[in-house]
Amino acid sequence: MQDARFVRNAFAGIAKRYVLANHVLSLGIDVLWRKTTARLAAERHPQLIVDLATGSGDLAQSLQAANPQARILGGDFSVPMMREAQVRGFPQLIAADAMQLPIIDAAADLVTVAFGLRNMASWPSALQEMSRILKPGGQLMVLDFSIPRFPGIRQAYLFYLKQIMPRIAGAITGQREAYEYLCGSIERFPSGSAMLDLIQANGFRSATCRPLTFGIASLYIAEK
Ligand SMILES: C[S@@+](CC[C@H](N)C(=O)[O-])C[C@H]1O[C@@H](n2cnc3c(N)ncnc32)[C@H](O)[C@@H]1O
Repeated sequence: MQDARFVRNAFAGIAKRYVLANHVLSLGIDVLWRKTTARLAAERHPQLIVDLATGSGDLAQSLQAANPQARILGGDFSVPMMREAQVRGFPQLIAADAMQLPIIDAAADLVTVAFGLRNMASWPSALQEMSRILKPGGQLMVLDFSIPRFPGIRQAYLFYLKQIMPRIAGAITGQREAYEYLCGSIERFPSGSAMLDLIQANGFRSATCRPLTFGIASLYIAEK
């Protein structure tokens, strides 16, 4: 169980440098992952997209570019993170906990969450709430880090995650402790078939997993 207060404080502390840290730590590959998510989202021509844990609005903006017909609403429980989204040109925002959304049942065609579900206090409760706000047949897209399965890549990635990433991110944001937590959370977060089972046990069916960049990240897509 993730500690919501710690997570909210951690993101308040890193908000101003979050985007820069992301791009440095991933060598810019995170931009491609969001673009892939947005492109796949466009295949179903969604009208209302709710992007949860929207943070600095990076995925919301990619979604808007790939889905010009859609109305996109970003939600997050960190106001400092959403301020970054506002400054960067994404203003359709609501301050809300993803596990208790002020959105009526069956309203959205697509719910997205990038690098956010992992930090929510209860993964099952969060997924059930996402299912509640989706129309029947609506789509869920979860983008998050995962641990690569190939042994050599796996070892190298775990070394980077534990030894290097918190140091670099700490130097950029001044909040090394926050990144030690975030990096540790990647190892604890289910991936692959475990994540598909979690999604399918909490309001979804036909879940698929698309590993990205050797499985450093994964995109899960499911239907309500
Ligand atoms: C790593 S950032 C992701 C930002 C953005 N989606 C991206 O792709 O870069 C994670 C975000 O999740 C938010 N978050 C974590 N738990 C949340 C919850 N229960 N409800 C709403 N937002 C939450 C944090 O405030 C933070 O802004």
